Amino acid sequence: MNPWSHGYNTEVPYTFGYYRETDPRWLDFAALITGFWPPQPAPDRPLRYLDLGCGQGFGLCLTAALHPEMQFVGIDFNPTHIAHAQGLVQRAGLTNLRFVEGDFVELGRAWPAELGHFDYVVLHGIWSWIAPPVRQGAVAAVRHCLRPGGLVYNSYNAQPGWHAGAILRELLMLVSRAEADQVQLEALRRAIGVAKELNEAGALAFKAYPGLTQRLQMVQKHDLRYVANEYINEAHFIFWGHEVTAEMAPAKLTFIASATLPENFLPALLPKAQSDLIARFTHPALRQLLIDLAINQAFRRDLFQRGAVQATRFPQLERLLATPVTGLKADKREAKFSLSFGEVNGRDEIYAPLFDLVDGEPITLKAIQERHPQRPNLAQLVQAIAVSAWDNRLAFAQAGAAPKSAHAFNAAVMRAQREGRFYNWLAAPAACQGVAIPTLEMLTLAAITLDGIPLAERERILAAVRRDAVQLELKLEKEGQALTGAAWEAELKQQVEEILIQRLHVWSHLGLV
Ligand SMILES: C[S@@+](CC[C@H](N)C(=O)[O-])C[C@H]1O[C@@H](n2cnc3c(N)ncnc32)[C@H](O)[C@@H]1O
Repeated sequence: MNPWSHGYNTEVPYTFGYYRETDPRWLDFAALITGFWPPQPAPDRPLRYLDLGCGQGFGLCLTAALHPEMQFVGIDFNPTHIAHAQGLVQRAGLTNLRFVEGDFVELGRAWPAELGHFDYVVLHGIWSWIAPPVRQGAVAAVRHCLRPGGLVYNSYNAQPGWHAGAILRELLMLVSRAEADQVQLEALRRAIGVAKELNEAGALAFKAYPGLTQRLQMVQKHDLRYVANEYINEAHFIFWGHEVTAEMAPAKLTFIASATLPENFLPALLPKAQSDLIARFTHPALRQLLIDLAINQAFRRDLFQRGAVQATRFPQLERLLATPVTGLKADKREAKFSLSFGEVNGRDEIYAPLFDLVDGEPITLKAIQERHPQRPNLAQLVQAIAVSAWDNRLAFAQAGAAPKSAHAFNAAVMRAQREGRFYNWLAAPAACQGVAIPTLEMLTLAAITLDGIPLAERERILAAVRRDAVQLELKLEKEGQALTGAAWEAELKQQVEEILIQRLHVWSHLGLV
């Protein structure tokens, strides 16, 4: 354990993730729909955004590339993460973002004046993995640097849904420790194997907690670096929502919304018996507890505001109606949604026309309301937008020209991909959101955008992708079998052709080509 890590696992560097819920537009929408006024830019200063515990900084770079009008700062105490993040800033030519090496405990004691004040502070995947004095340091840092009216996003592993995860964690921790002579990831791989054997051998804990088997299946699918941070960190805490609200209070923060957008429409979206029961209670903490029990909450994305700023009704409606959205060209068109609390069916007559209307250029909620055959009221429309955004059917778009910085960022990501750094996300300028792009698709886009090969020259595109795929020793499989030689070549050709047929219109809609 490092002497500077306060018990945090610094042995395994973190993954290169992107989280759309941390985008300022997403946070603004969450605040607005629950009746709070998001931060406003002043004519003489841009909005400022801080990522506390930014990890490798990939997600923050992507967000900054989509918002050249804002200023961003990322802080993390792991120098490996900060060095990576600073390198990416340089390669992408980002001028509105800087990364700083810093520890929450020290920042809480004294906030460096040169870092200034912020309108947004984001803590993603931090709270559950840091010890109480470190959490107090982070709250003190927020108290120093957040402007009045500023928003704070804090996500964490929650009760009661993480309960089974805590059992798995105990097992993975102890087996990994017992195998301490191994490289940590290897020890973890073995520990997962032991958990699997235990389950197959009929251990009763797996029968008493069916969630344990689900967790084990999830862990087997995930990137091991993520599993290491999530499960075998020295510090690990699972919270009820009201406990985190109490911890954030010294920074003068009030809980205002969930960035898991559909959860703002609970309990109304629950089965009637549950929603009627919960509706009998008005005490906020109790109501929240009942909702979290009803949905077996496992991960909360809480939004707080410094001095909850109630929105006045007409400006709130005006701002909501002016929000532009655009479709994400999902293959799924039916009004069936995978939400954080399960599958929910929407009304076809609301959703089918909505999906048609968001299929082209970005469109405001006002224009949707006017053109929608059912003329939904704003409350219905806002709920439909929140549910659809959550299920990756649409995004909060940006009016005006696509930022050049997004294209420069994407070029840097594609070049890195060709060098063997698998980032897997690009900034979609037209949707103002990151989109997941698998490796082969990214190499195909790189042939078109970096090499400038015209779309009509399919053979040249295929040759460029093949060259990169060979260099990266890209693995291709069919029916679970790894392919080699002529079979690999044929599969590559087929997949690239499919990508060119199926994905071109999506890339062009998202502003990627
Ligand atoms: C699970 S990672 C999440 C990273 C990033 N927010 C994301 O979601 O991709 C937690 C991050 O918190 C950082 N961290 C932990 N303790 C810290 C401290 N005392 N001061 C600053 N950063 C810390 C770690 O280095 C790590 O990058």
